[in-house]
Amino acid sequence: MTPELMEEGAQRREQLAVAQAVGRTESGGRQAGFSRIAMPDGEVDVTHGRILYLEDVSVSFDGFKAINKLSLDIAPGELRCIIGPNGAGKTTMMDIITGKTRPDAGTVFFGSTIDLLRYKEPQIAQLGIGRKFQKPTVFEQLTVFENLELALKTDKGVRASMLFRLDSAQADHLAELLHTIHLADDVNRLAGNLSHGQKQWLEIGMLLVQEPKLLLLDEPVAGMTDEETERTAELFLSLKGKHSLMVVEHDMSFIRTISEIVTVLCDGSVLAQGTLDEVQADERVIEVYLGR
Ligand SMILES: Nc1ncnc2c1ncn2[C@@H]1O[C@H](COP(=O)(O)OP(=O)(O)OP(=O)(O)O)[C@@H](O)[C@H]1O
Ligand SMILES: [Mg+2]
Repeated sequence: MTPELMEEGAQRREQLAVAQAVGRTESGGRQAGFSRIAMPDGEVDVTHGRILYLEDVSVSFDGFKAINKLSLDIAPGELRCIIGPNGAGKTTMMDIITGKTRPDAGTVFFGSTIDLLRYKEPQIAQLGIGRKFQKPTVFEQLTVFENLELALKTDKGVRASMLFRLDSAQADHLAELLHTIHLADDVNRLAGNLSHGQKQWLEIGMLLVQEPKLLLLDEPVAGMTDEETERTAELFLSLKGKHSLMVVEHDMSFIRTISEIVTVLCDGSVLAQGTLDEVQADERVIEVYLGR
């Protein structure tokens, strides 16, 4: 078999697995099997009021419990902030949700029917969970527009990508997105020439073109100027409702601007949860995090 055929076969198997998870099959919407999603149109089943649900999740690295019986859930359209000291397990939690790290125990569901622990990292991305790592990873030698266009193509396979042309609806969508991420005036600039903050927005844009239902953002304003941080807050507030967001940050004034419910992680589990004022007044939170 040629490498192209093997790649095509692997992609088809992966696409089929994802299609089955969202209730679509090649024979046309047949639904089968426990824990497969029962929504016919690819929507995540949020009838129980949760888009993400973790229960009693644990993972150890060389005997050290990085995540320890962690339970947490997020409502559809919610913008949840996660704070906590270094080493609390915030990034590891995102690794577990996105399939990068497999937990030793526990339950992780996307909506009420998709058991995320059954899927690998690329499939989880296809199911509609986008992740932004701390360091921007844009293609520096390409323009802003080319980066976004590329992100739109990524799940189409090599040959389809080569033939791919933007249709007018997609072009409109990209134009709107460029405004949302504050880069409408920079479409033809090389990504390598953008500021750190603009690169972060571009990467968020590259996630948004794939229309994720849930976005995980790890320290998105680290290294940004005050003005870039403020504009990022506006951006996240504009995404709330259309997407569900989980934002990990150490920048408390940023958290104050965007937060509704704040979850404090410590030693791999939830230490406190509530409004920022509530958790900031919590003695245990002051001791382990804010008072340092
Ligand atoms: N792959 C790994 N192998 C070994 N140890 C790991 C691994 N990933 C994370 N850890 C450990 O798990 C703990 C939690 O790390 P994690 O990166 O999740 O913390 P965090 O809350 O994101 O911290 P920070 O605020 O500094 O980013 C740390 O002690 C870290 O060293
Ligand atoms: Mg981290």
